[in-house]
Amino acid sequence: MNKNYIIPNEWSIIEEGFCAENVEASESLFSIGNGAMGQRANFEEDYSGNTFQGSYIGGIYYPDKTRVGWWKNGYPEYFAKVLNAPNWIGIGIQINTTKLDLNTCKVSNFKRELNMKEGWLSRSFVAKLPTGEQIEVCTKRFISIKYNEVGAIAYTVKPLNFSGEISFSPYIDAGIVNEDANYDEFFWEILQISPEENKGAILSKTLKTEFHVATAMAVSFTSNEKPIEIPQQTLIEEKSITYSYTLNISEGETATIYKYGSYVSSLNHSNEELLDAAFKNVTEAKQIGFQQLLNSQIDSWKNIWKTADIVIEGDVKAQQGIRFNIFQLNQTYMGTDARLNIGPKGFTGEKYGGSTYWDTEAYCIPFYMATKDASVAKNLLLYRYNQLDKAIENAEKLGFTNGAALYPMVTMNGEECHNEWEITFEEIHRNGAMVYGIYNYVNYTQDFEYIPKNGLEVMIAIARFWHQRANFSEAKNKYVILGVTGPNEYENNVNNNFYTNYLAKWCIEYTVDCLNKVKHNYPDDFERIINKTNLKAEETYKWLKVAENMYFPFDAEKNIYLQQDGFLDKEISSVDKLPISDRPINQKWSWDRILRSCYIKQADVLQGIFFFENKFSKDEVERHFDFYEPLTVHESSLSPCVHSILAASIDRMPKAYEQYVRTSRLDLDDYNHEVHEGCHITSMAGTWMSIVQGFGGMRVWDDGKLTFNPQIPKEWKSYSFTINFRGSIIKVYKSQTACKFFNESGNEIKMLVNNNEILIPSNQLVTV
Ligand code: BGC
Repeated sequence: MNKNYIIPNEWSIIEEGFCAENVEASESLFSIGNGAMGQRANFEEDYSGNTFQGSYIGGIYYPDKTRVGWWKNGYPEYFAKVLNAPNWIGIGIQINTTKLDLNTCKVSNFKRELNMKEGWLSRSFVAKLPTGEQIEVCTKRFISIKYNEVGAIAYTVKPLNFSGEISFSPYIDAGIVNEDANYDEFFWEILQISPEENKGAILSKTLKTEFHVATAMAVSFTSNEKPIEIPQQTLIEEKSITYSYTLNISEGETATIYKYGSYVSSLNHSNEELLDAAFKNVTEAKQIGFQQLLNSQIDSWKNIWKTADIVIEGDVKAQQGIRFNIFQLNQTYMGTDARLNIGPKGFTGEKYGGSTYWDTEAYCIPFYMATKDASVAKNLLLYRYNQLDKAIENAEKLGFTNGAALYPMVTMNGEECHNEWEITFEEIHRNGAMVYGIYNYVNYTQDFEYIPKNGLEVMIAIARFWHQRANFSEAKNKYVILGVTGPNEYENNVNNNFYTNYLAKWCIEYTVDCLNKVKHNYPDDFERIINKTNLKAEETYKWLKVAENMYFPFDAEKNIYLQQDGFLDKEISSVDKLPISDRPINQKWSWDRILRSCYIKQADVLQGIFFFENKFSKDEVERHFDFYEPLTVHESSLSPCVHSILAASIDRMPKAYEQYVRTSRLDLDDYNHEVHEGCHITSMAGTWMSIVQGFGGMRVWDDGKLTFNPQIPKEWKSYSFTINFRGSIIKVYKSQTACKFFNESGNEIKMLVNNNEILIPSNQLVTV
């Protein structure tokens, strides 16, 4: 794998020169999407080299039969896969008698660009075919934000050394399989193929889940930029529809095909109207035209960047990295539909599906909360609220009672679909993140009403889970939580994972606190919730007994909390002593060796300290950081950002910067040697946090106060970011010598900067 081939640029991801080994990595990196659907940056024309074809529709999944070595009671029956959907981008190109295939051509002047400012992907190159013809090709493609069921392609060919025939063969291929299918099964059934003049559609449905999807295309042509009509030949096969259009063209002239594509699904339409709706979409897109659609795309992105952009001066790679992260997060989730969520690979690959993990609550909510309207983060919370019944069922399957809920580690519809026992049954800390997401949202937005309306029911069910999951240890005279896996998945079945115990205690206390507030301030809601959950005061006393007497492993000599019981029995040796050839350990070592080692995959104790930093003194943060960070291999993409933020908070800027670079360019520089499988979308929100919470030092705890403590890495001239704080837009600028806040809103804003209270009048700039 050729790393570091992405050309630094402030607003674009650029690749120059064609290199077959980079094709799959680039297909991930140059992915495009609009929150409702997305696709890898596959070539439109045929390509016989290694490629990973992928187009995905948000919320359309398949319950693939699970594959495990030894079945365990409580395992889910299936692993939900985001479904690789019919391909509408394909355009076969034939020059005289030869197909265009970059794998068999001599390619020069190859350039691929993902323009993040405007939201489009382009490619240009000169190809010399094996038969000697030379052509120049320019393509542009985007998935519309405004018309979120539509995408468009412009594909232009220019003969450079001949006059002859060009055939364009646009197609829809519904015979798509998932790369990660467990048993190589086909997940779709084709219901109808509808060819029409210059447009066509395929109606298909997913097996088992019975999602219906219509995929449509419409085409038009220009020659030397003037519209032309070309007779259509139609080929219908079992799972595909292909048209072919042939024209004669002279050397130096251009021929362009415009292809409009659409997905419509039964999530948003009735089954009967799907084909019509898909046809309507592509017909209207064709009428609007490529350029107009592109103009609206540019406007949509302009709007997004207004509150989402982070500007870094003096470090173009860092600038490119942060914009790439922000761009991909927006391509993955727009927040308008509470049925959708943020898959760890978004629409850029299949591993981890487009399924929902604790990543959303632990990492993503702050980004969406501060760069968009509060309704977006609320939709993420409602997603879990709407799945509460399934979380209760899930806990029942494992033997819990009385309405206790265990949210799944991996899910599409609320049902658990992870099937490794150490994760499914043991990584229960995820339940705490559900409550932390609510707490974070309420602190930031002050929308306390979310708690009586929705949040409290979730919190009660989770408090019940913790109460039942803990047990009293006579030996310790404390409550303990046994047999868990913490966020550090390089240890399983440990007892008293500090992070898990801490969250359990906190969840109970926060729930009881909220119950009291709701009782006083929202008596009607209180009554409704009490009736629904059948909660009695005595039950809450029992929860509190557990919380108040929770056990935490602690080493008095080192004066630190231990990751779990017995952690210090391990041979403790820092990661820098590991030979490079042993890393990443998850690819180089046996699992047995990993489990026994002291190496930590991602923040674990430090994840807890990050979540509740206001409850720890700076000394405590430092002590824990100094003990755990050197043992951490950061082999989860979620790891570097937490360490970067904590390092900044204890004034370790070089470390903070080192970890920042790692998180922000994790995919662009392919640190973990896996970008060909897709990008790490959820950790991108962590990258955003590394700047805003890390360098910017922004915090909003439960007192609701907005605070900053801005610092700047020595490598940068300045940086600035914007936040939407309770409807007010605030711009923060920090350079090596200055720190400024601009209040773009109509209200005055109070905040704490470096512990000093400042008041910024509406539309004023204040220098601190
Ligand atoms: C991490 C989990 C995370 C998952 C999806 C794993 O490698 O250890 O914490 O939820 O990836 O991002």
